Parts: sequence; structure tokens; C-alpha cells
Amino acid sequence: MKKIHEGAEAVIYQNNSEIIKIRKEKKYRHKKLDIKLRKTRTRSEFKIMQKLHKNKLPVPKPIECNEMTFEIRMEKVKGENLKQSQEKKEKELAKIIAKMHNLNIVHGDLTLKNVLLTSKGLVIIDFGLSYQSSRYEDKAMDLFILEETSKLEEFDMKKFINEYIKKAKNAKQIILKLEKIRERRRYL
Ligand SMILES: Nc1ncnc2c1ncn2[C@@H]1O[C@H](COP(=O)(O)OP(=O)(O)O)[C@@H](O)[C@H]1O
Ligand SMILES: [Mg+2]
Repeated sequence: MKKIHEGAEAVIYQNNSEIIKIRKEKKYRHKKLDIKLRKTRTRSEFKIMQKLHKNKLPVPKPIECNEMTFEIRMEKVKGENLKQSQEKKEKELAKIIAKMHNLNIVHGDLTLKNVLLTSKGLVIIDFGLSYQSSRYEDKAMDLFILEETSKLEEFDMKKFINEYIKKAKNAKQIILKLEKIRERRRYL
């Protein structure tokens, strides 16, 4: 097993064709609360991956979840972060995100770092902040985060939104909320 990534929330290990994601302890949190949070977040991340995988969305196949050790085992996807690649994949990503939103799942951390480019197309990862929601504003927040974090990348948000509007249920209401979020941010 070798460590391939360490972020604020989790350490990622690779073991042959599997990825093991282990949620880290946060020393500043009360011990009991820390354990409770890591348990529920591990379980929630796994459940969301299962739902998306069942619905044939391109996510790593979830293998096993161990709440006691805060571990998720999943398929290792062969690819690179979309961020590192030059290819423009706005339309394909918009289709996937629209499908995910149509299942009422909000990603919660929709940045290009959490999109992998493989030989078979894009794969979405990192459901650590994901949740179930049918609220237009929550879905709009996903779009806003993608828009803000992709500004310095070669990513055409207009292209993304054009395709998203064609595929997402209630796209008009969601885009209206996105406009409201942009307005609010402008005055902060
Ligand atoms: N299933 C996977 N297959 C391939 N690489 C992965 C997989 N899961 C995570 N990674 C790699 O590890 C990095 C961090 O994983 P991620 O789930 O996004 O955790 P974090 O919450 O730390 O951002 C990803 O950006 C990706 O490079
Ligand atoms: Mg991530």
C-alpha cells in the first residue's frame, strides 16, 4: 500500500487496483465529536458513491466502507485531474453534472481537481462533502464553485452552462439562483 495523496480531510492510499481513502483525525475537534463526524461522513460519502454508481454515473466503483476505521475502498481510476489536462471537456462534464443533479445529489466540492480524465471519458470523484438535495440553490452552488475555481484554468463555463441547461431538470430556476449567488458575492 502506498500513499499517493494527503489533503486536509483524508489520506489516499493505492493498493494495486484499489484506492483506500482514510479520513484524518482533526486534533482541534473534541475527540468524541471528531469520531462521530468522521464516521457519518465516511458512511455518507460511500452511500452517495453507491447511489451514483447504481445509476450508471461515471464514478469509481465503491467496494467497501469501514466506519470504525473511517475507510472507503474503491476502484482506482486510471486518469489525471482534468486540471492538468489541456482538453476541453465542458460539454461532457455538464452532462454528468446535470444527471447527478437530476438524481438530487449535490457534489459540494465541484472543482476540476475532483474530475479525472480517463481514456473512457470523465470520472467524478471526492464525494466527501456531497449530500442529497432537490433545492435549486444547492445545485446552483455546485455551478458557482465550478465557475469560480475554473476561472484560471482553460475551462469555458459558458459552454458548460449551455449544455447543462439542455440536460438538467429545472435548469432555468437553477441558473436564476446561480445569478443571485453571483450578485450576492459581488457585494461581499
Ligand atoms: N478512485 C480514485 N482513482 C484514482 N485517483 C484517485 C481516486 N480517488 C482519489 N484519487 C486521487 O487522490 C486525490 C485526492 O482524493 P479526494 O477524494 O479528492 O480527497 P480530498 O478530500 O483530499 O480532496 C484526487 O485528486 C485524485 O488525484
Ligand atoms: Mg478532492
